[in-house]
Amino acid sequence: MDLLLRGGNLVLESGIAAADLLIRGETIARIAPSIDAATLSPGTRVIDCAGLLVFPGFIDAHTHFGLGEGASRTADGFYEGSAAAALGGVTTFIDFADQIPGKTLLQGANIRIGEAADAVVDFALHQGIYRFHEGIGEELDELARGGVRALKLFTTYKEFGVFLDPGAWESLFSLCAEKRLLVAIHAEDDEIIEEIAKALPPVGFSKASPPPSSASSQSAPGPGMHPYLRPARAEASAIMKTGLVALRHHLPLYFVHVSSAEGMDAVRNLRRRGLRVIAETTPHYLLLTEDRLGGEDGPLFLMTPPLRSLADRSALLEALASGEIDIVATDHCSYTPEQKKASADCRAIPAGVPGTGEAASLLFTLLPGDIESKAKALAALFSRNPARIFGLSPKKGSLETGTDADIAIFDPAASGIISKASIRTAAGYSPYEGLAYRGAPVMTILRGRVVAERGRCTGARGAGAFLECGVSEIFSGYPAAR
Ligand code: URP
Ligand code: ZN
Ligand code: ZN
Repeated sequence: MDLLLRGGNLVLESGIAAADLLIRGETIARIAPSIDAATLSPGTRVIDCAGLLVFPGFIDAHTHFGLGEGASRTADGFYEGSAAAALGGVTTFIDFADQIPGKTLLQGANIRIGEAADAVVDFALHQGIYRFHEGIGEELDELARGGVRALKLFTTYKEFGVFLDPGAWESLFSLCAEKRLLVAIHAEDDEIIEEIAKALPPVGFSKASPPPSSASSQSAPGPGMHPYLRPARAEASAIMKTGLVALRHHLPLYFVHVSSAEGMDAVRNLRRRGLRVIAETTPHYLLLTEDRLGGEDGPLFLMTPPLRSLADRSALLEALASGEIDIVATDHCSYTPEQKKASADCRAIPAGVPGTGEAASLLFTLLPGDIESKAKALAALFSRNPARIFGLSPKKGSLETGTDADIAIFDPAASGIISKASIRTAAGYSPYEGLAYRGAPVMTILRGRVVAERGRCTGARGAGAFLECGVSEIFSGYPAAR
């Protein structure tokens, strides 16, 4: 069925334009100040968008749906997570595939694509690289031909087997520069984290052992200790270390979930040296601070890197306002309160918080300026920039004729408070409960089909498709001359 979005305020790169938008099949067929009803196909659904903002569908560039196994599996699988995303106006999410022993990278990515078969909205993948070996170049070529052109590296998390030995950075970065693969990094310097951890007792995996406690170095560190165990300087150090290697290879870098003022300073330092750097942060670092980690519900606010100080939060808000942050993504990684509270030791609490369903509302609320400035910034940070950086444009990330009809219709006047009743994740809680918002998605359209409407996910399981990424725009014109 064709759809006519009548009289909305279209959020274009140039600003807001009052116009009608016609969707035929999966794509945007026409945008005009007024589209004559007599020209519509019979049965066209006309959606009154007066007073509403019409955004390109949001792109959540960092999610973890269906992560882990058994008791440590995330509450949201691909269906639940993508349904929450659809309710939040998200039409594309980017999750990640593991590097699986005994399988090629493409085989691993294909397994993950199979796991995501239930997704309600479209998705792309980052490919985790945890081990470097001779011959990985051919695997990378094959992976890129399969549509995965973004790699994910961890400078920490040895306990999960995803830490990439720094000795491999040089060779891997050289290959990625040559093949124009986007390298995204979870930056926390494990040497610093390990040094701090030496003073602690072994990790306690249950409430029974060792006894819960606060900050004592002789007993299990609680959630309040998490920022001390994984400090901002570890983030800054890993950004600098990886960045200096990347500079030698003229390889642009993408830093996921930048959480601190020091981390942002490191990003600036690398940019001053000439490295092209994409900085991503998340709604939780922009809205929440480490004081949440105290008390009975502290575990519900635990993620990695940890929540930081008010000064860090302010520095990130300033960086957002000054345009130094390119992308906001949620790092949605949902566990139930039972899972989060099963251990009193912050090192054994499953890390991560949900957020994809609430992100657009919360971001629109916190972005500065009038409605037009907020809308333009939200469209850039949560749609256009991720589309360009991950090689998904022009199909995704803008409202132009011929592109995918992925649309978030958004009411800038809708207001409320995030509460249990509005929660969109199987985790059953939101770290944002109690926060007021102004502005909310009211309808989400994926390639011409309504997948969420009036708070209900209407998209079918499997309505989403795997998206093959092209070369990231981060490589265009960079480096200027070699
Ligand atoms: O705590 C988090 N962020 N969990 C998800 C994994 C990651 O590091 O992004
Ligand atoms: Zn991470
Ligand atoms: Zn993550």
